[in-house]
Amino acid sequence: MESLDRIRDEILRLIDGAATGVALDEARVAALGRSGQITELMKGLRALDPDARRQRGADLNSLKQEIETALAAAQGRIDAATLAGRLVNERLDMTLPVRTEIEGRIHPISQTIDEVVSIFGEMGFSVAEGPHIEDDFHNFTALNIPPEHPARQEQDTFYLQGTGGERKLLRTHTSPVQIRTMMAHKPPLRIIVPGRTFRSDHDATHSPMFHQVEGLMIDRAVHMGHLKGCLIEFCRAFFDIEHLPVRFRPSYFPFTEPSAEVDIGCSREGGGLKIGAGGDWLEILGSGMVHPKVLANCGLDPDTHQGFAFGMGIERIAMLKYGIPDLRTFYESDLRWLRHYGFAALDIPSLAGGLAR
Ligand code: DAH
Repeated sequence: MESLDRIRDEILRLIDGAATGVALDEARVAALGRSGQITELMKGLRALDPDARRQRGADLNSLKQEIETALAAAQGRIDAATLAGRLVNERLDMTLPVRTEIEGRIHPISQTIDEVVSIFGEMGFSVAEGPHIEDDFHNFTALNIPPEHPARQEQDTFYLQGTGGERKLLRTHTSPVQIRTMMAHKPPLRIIVPGRTFRSDHDATHSPMFHQVEGLMIDRAVHMGHLKGCLIEFCRAFFDIEHLPVRFRPSYFPFTEPSAEVDIGCSREGGGLKIGAGGDWLEILGSGMVHPKVLANCGLDPDTHQGFAFGMGIERIAMLKYGIPDLRTFYESDLRWLRHYGFAALDIPSLAGGLAR
């Protein structure tokens, strides 16, 4: 019978000499693998008579255990050596000079959303969101938009099929989030909803994807005075002009009654637009008292609850505030444009710290 001592020495020498995980694996396979030395010897037990088999089996088992212990110890030794090597080689050089030129810029759309949110945040509004893929009910029906309304037509709205074949659409405004919020939460409600919106429209002043921000306040006694107060305050804070003239012009939206569009004072003398001066007006948002039918559609009693809503285009107010002349440039991802119109990463807008540079 082959001497186990010789085999044992040979295997342990291999294990002790292994400097890497790969070499150790090779040693393991050579000893204990499917046709490893120890495995082959175990197979040979079958040919022995019972007494010899018992003795040899016990010897082989204790050898196997010794090898397994040696393998584990070698693994520990290799792991420690690998770690020590990494600690030496991957050391961070803290003396490297800091890169002063920061490439990244906050996109004007993100910045403008942050500004709007921070102004309404100070008034107690919190941010709400809703899905981009909507259905007829939330985007149109619940908002009292009649079946024949032009916005519902194929050429204005992107329709798509849901997974069950049902008709879906890309939301055409952020107003469906009003519906979702009123159906899911009990008043009092004060939300602001920034987000993407989609319309089948593409020219110099329209993009198929754009951004809006919606506002909604519902309580028992919210009235037109609250709407006016909040929106005047918003316009003056956003454009950072203390006495900015703000005008409420009667208008029509299916989901509000009465409805008003909000204009701010400006001058167009000499071809240039100047906000806050002169006798001209510039429309910036739509608003109104939430229509009783919309409240009822969401399960609210119009005799006990009422409120106001408003909606505006983010790109539009960003263009006005930051003098960005072309809507299409927002989505071109042109780094030179972003370097020019973008904001530093730490320029976080707040009423106390200033809304922008
Ligand atoms: N959803 C309107 C649009 O996309 C904007 C709007 C107007 C929203 C008046 C409102 C509102 O909440 O009260 O043109």
